[in-house]
Amino acid sequence: MTTWNLSGMRSHLFICNGSSCMRKGAEEITLAIRDEISELEMDEQIHTTRTRCNGRCKDACIVIAYPQGSWYKASSTDTGREIVRDCLAQQNNQHTVYRTIDGKMILNPEVASITGIDKNK
Ligand code: FES
Repeated sequence: MTTWNLSGMRSHLFICNGSSCMRKGAEEITLAIRDEISELEMDEQIHTTRTRCNGRCKDACIVIAYPQGSWYKASSTDTGREIVRDCLAQQNNQHTVYRTIDGKMILNPEVASITGIDKNK
């Protein structure tokens, strides 16, 4: 059992390890993200957690950054590494599916992605 001291963390990356994302390379992407964090010596600033399905399987593999509120589509290990660097710079990139603006999630029209099923129906 582990209890990390998270004081001073700048970002928390939730890396989807649900079945759809695992079929799209989530294990390798998870390892690449963690390796990039270590190579950049950012272990004290970026925390990672593996999750189950986050409900955006068409965008597999999903990586969510908080408190930035950005949802990324990590399609390769290189993309995973890029997400780490962009997260540190507090930037979104061409892999950002959703951005949070004024507390509201906004679908990024620059990323090829489906809108998805309306939760109100
Ligand atoms: S399995 Fe990752 S979003 Fe569904």
